[in-house]
Amino acid sequence: MSQLFIGLMSGTSLDGVDAALVAFDDETPSLVSTYFEPYPEKLFTALKEACQASQLSFEKLGTLDATLGDFYAHCVQQLLLNSTLSASNVVAIGSHGQTIQHSPNSTPPFTLQIGDANRIAANTGITVIADFRRKDMAAGGQGAPLVPAFHQSVFRSDEADTAILNIGGIANLTFLSEHLAEPVIGFDCGPGNTLMDQWCQRHFDTPYDKAGNLANKGHLNKPLLDSLLSDRYFSQPYPKSTGPELFNMQWLDSHLSKNPTNELDTLTTLCELTVASIALGLKQLPNVDQVLICGGGVHNLFLKNRLEHQLGYLVDTTERMGIHPDWVEAMAFAWLAKQTLEGKPGNLPSVTGANKAVVLGAIYPA
Ligand SMILES: Nc1ncnc2c1ncn2[C@@H]1O[C@H](COP(=O)(O)OP(=O)(O)O)[C@@H](O)[C@H]1O
Ligand SMILES: [Mg+2]
Repeated sequence: MSQLFIGLMSGTSLDGVDAALVAFDDETPSLVSTYFEPYPEKLFTALKEACQASQLSFEKLGTLDATLGDFYAHCVQQLLLNSTLSASNVVAIGSHGQTIQHSPNSTPPFTLQIGDANRIAANTGITVIADFRRKDMAAGGQGAPLVPAFHQSVFRSDEADTAILNIGGIANLTFLSEHLAEPVIGFDCGPGNTLMDQWCQRHFDTPYDKAGNLANKGHLNKPLLDSLLSDRYFSQPYPKSTGPELFNMQWLDSHLSKNPTNELDTLTTLCELTVASIALGLKQLPNVDQVLICGGGVHNLFLKNRLEHQLGYLVDTTERMGIHPDWVEAMAFAWLAKQTLEGKPGNLPSVTGANKAVVLGAIYPA
């Protein structure tokens, strides 16, 4: 008898909420139905402001936390409407929340995800697991990335050394050795779409560069690329994780002021930065037999072409291993919720740098 869980993911792209209804037959997950809703404009603007602000009033933070919790609940209701199932069929929801700040290197380190899980539980009648990252951080880890444990559970093959590349707002890599005894490696390699998205919003009046068509029209500015790549994050050894606290418009502007270039060429160069930093990340790993990509970046065809050109081989999506690339992360949070309810760890110390594997998150009963 399979068990149903829901995963809710909203990443640094701030594009909206991915909701996945997942059936687990023992350990094997399959996607039952999916729902995506972009953030309504008012919520998007408030979240963007909160992520970028150095100060935020308690009133704004509290309002946003509650509003977001209600929006997550709405997404769960829509997801269930798209299926023939009701809330009583679902064991639990795993909700990532929206990261407002991720500071793994401050003293003490902290990470903050909002989207009140009490409201999700109350509005849906389903038990919610949330706040996954802070337990790993309390155990000395980066609190990120958390999806590699799920990648290991579904994508590990004893025939090929495999890298899973997730291109969300931030890009992250997971290395899965064909030898089970080898520890999993995983880290954020740098910006995925976040800088390109923000540049498009600022200069091209579009939320993102559809299929990479704009970047495809510009030219690479090599001095700007070299300047961007000189940031020490790219050569830093793993474990490491990052976010828009580092890779943001101020960061870009400071490099642009020394290497001025036009708007289109800047976008092309930002796309190449994503490609180059992924290639650098892959160099930090043992040799791989295959790279499988997932996350919204798979739809940026120009980015995918540039990546294949840079690596000298073709990359496939996770569809090849049976999981649609748009839903890997949401499915991971359904899996993490299941792990927590079963009292099993969700982090991999070899990835996050935590001193032990721990049961993640907090449980908010229906
Ligand atoms: N058709 C498309 N063409 C180019 N880029 C796309 C397309 N669809 C989605 N994306 C990119 O994917 C991003 C969303 O990816 P996602 O995996 O949801 O990231 P996150 O986990 O950070 O929210 C969008 O912000 C956009 O940059
Ligand atoms: Mg997203």
